[in-house]
Amino acid sequence: VSTLSSTTSSILLQIAMRAEADPFRARLAGFSPWQPLSPPLPALFCSASLHSRPVHLVIPGSDQRFHVDSIGTQPAAVTAFAAISRFRPSLIINAGTAGGFSSAGAAIGDVYISDGPVAFHDRRVPLGAFEPAGIGSYPSLECRALAASLNLKLGRLTTGDSLDLCDADARQIAPTNSTLPPVKDMEAAAIAWVAGLFGIPFIGLKAITDLVDHEHPTAAQFERNLEMAVARLAETLERVVTSISIA
Ligand code: ADE
Repeated sequence: VSTLSSTTSSILLQIAMRAEADPFRARLAGFSPWQPLSPPLPALFCSASLHSRPVHLVIPGSDQRFHVDSIGTQPAAVTAFAAISRFRPSLIINAGTAGGFSSAGAAIGDVYISDGPVAFHDRRVPLGAFEPAGIGSYPSLECRALAASLNLKLGRLTTGDSLDLCDADARQIAPTNSTLPPVKDMEAAAIAWVAGLFGIPFIGLKAITDLVDHEHPTAAQFERNLEMAVARLAETLERVVTSISIA
């Protein structure tokens, strides 16, 4: 990755759920303990070094009232802002799980890397320029060579704040001129927006836990497949970070 020429420039990894972050953290030796990122945000970070490059891992943390991971776009954006302000990374990778579309060839456990713009699919504001502003379409770093060398699928990340897929969101996600398979998550576009404000390249890396166009309820698929998908994510994220660190 040409933008990461300095050996000291850091990589920021943002992951929404602790259960998604811990298997990766366990793979890479030498991470510091989790520490508060920027109170009163519940966000936590830990840091390690890979081939002389600092790697900072950040999660939005556990919600004080609901005692669950702070998933979704609102914590994702403020956590990204706090983490980028603190670490000034050269690259931000948002890793996590996502819903796939069997109609576009997805299978449970597939890992996709972002290609092309990252959009919101649940912001319907048909008021002139507010409409494309809501959809966002924030850039992601061009990763085709990396995807080919690591045997990763390329996907069009699309973000909303619900796990299920309603008809209106499905219409928004439906490809118009894109042949890339859509990959449905709950954070990428929010983080890509903040990355863009800072001029930092953004990569999304997503492991499929559920097929949103399948008859089985999405939430049940998610719970059944989370552990397996997260293991695949951790293994792939290590390969991506290593490839980028030694590039
Ligand atoms: N993360 C895992 N599965 C998802 C889905 N179906 N929609 C959004 N985010 C997800």
